[in-house]
Amino acid sequence: MGAKGLRFNSKTIHGGQHPDKAYGAVMPPIYQTSTYAQATPGGHQGYEYSRSANPTRTALENSLASIENGNYGLAFGSGLAAIDAVIKLLSPGDEVISTNDLYGGSYRLFKMVFEKFGITFHFVGMQNADKIADYINGKTKLIWVETPTNPMMNIIDIVSVAHLAKKHSVLLAVDNTFATPYLQQPLDLGADIVMHSATKYLGGHSDVVVGALVVKDKALADQLYFIQNASGAVCGPMDSFLVLRGIKTLHIRMQRHCENGRAIAQYLRSHPKIDKVYWPGFEDHPNHHIAKSQMKDFGGMISFVPKGANYEDAVAIVEKLKLFTLAESLGGVESLAGHPASMTHASIPKEEREKSGVVDALIRLSVGIEDENDLIADLEQAIG
Ligand SMILES: Cc1ncc(COP(=O)(O)O)c(C=O)c1O
Repeated sequence: MGAKGLRFNSKTIHGGQHPDKAYGAVMPPIYQTSTYAQATPGGHQGYEYSRSANPTRTALENSLASIENGNYGLAFGSGLAAIDAVIKLLSPGDEVISTNDLYGGSYRLFKMVFEKFGITFHFVGMQNADKIADYINGKTKLIWVETPTNPMMNIIDIVSVAHLAKKHSVLLAVDNTFATPYLQQPLDLGADIVMHSATKYLGGHSDVVVGALVVKDKALADQLYFIQNASGAVCGPMDSFLVLRGIKTLHIRMQRHCENGRAIAQYLRSHPKIDKVYWPGFEDHPNHHIAKSQMKDFGGMISFVPKGANYEDAVAIVEKLKLFTLAESLGGVESLAGHPASMTHASIPKEEREKSGVVDALIRLSVGIEDENDLIADLEQAIG
């Protein structure tokens, strides 16, 4: 199928997909096999061993490449395994410039795993892209961007950072987990690598842990495929199937996430007991104009701080929520509430965390696709 010419809402369903060769199954079967019969040594049908390739994973990888407007997709056992593969492109002595407000697990991987192999990470506020240039030197090999950032919803100008990266021959990778390709397609904005925790919106149903990379360039794809196979952090066929199924409804889920996100952001902002609300759709959000130009809408992720910025008040709110579940993760159909300081961002030292606004009273919401009135009623009873 010539899915390349299709629009996004069709690519989610058809992009890179073909009826299965064996019986024409419309949904790729879950090829639950580790190995494949060979007629003669090397005489196989494209698959030898499932760490190297598996047909269900291939179907997912083709779908990922299609929805991100890339040429090559790679699926991993988790988002962090995907990030791990990107950093393994580097060598001791290389330097990385990363946004300073990012998922705590990414920070932990950079600081606590890769720094000891001689890779240096600079954590920099990137809301002003010009600031990044100060950190670029001959050893800089990669710029790592998350936008919107987790959990402060800062917006980074991908086009400007891509421009800088090209000028200095540095790779640009964008963690597109929060936005998803429904809202923003970083490869089209000049990024070299798009990364996803497909655990989140791509899977969409809180039932799987998977990671993804998408690139346009063949040489870069070959290096990453080599690392994927050599390090072996792949996802299984069942997990590949679940993400593939999730992607088929990504566009309609995201539309509702955005509608509900807007309603809840506005509700929280007008609430007398709430002090700060972080959501890129507000006109006075710093870099709102960039969000407006690089994103189609503003998503369903919102962070907020109750008046007084009291840790106990924040905990009382998350404990009282009934429809929002207090849980790690985000991006599923059901609404979740999180307390970044003790949950998703606990691995970042307090002083580091607070510098970027992740205070102890910050609450993060992943607004699901339930009825917005029920969600608002739940917040109303919890905030009081
Ligand atoms: C923005 C972001 N990037 C990466 C990850 C890591 O993904 P995973 O949990 O699938 O390893 C997460 C997980 O929460 C995330 O929120």
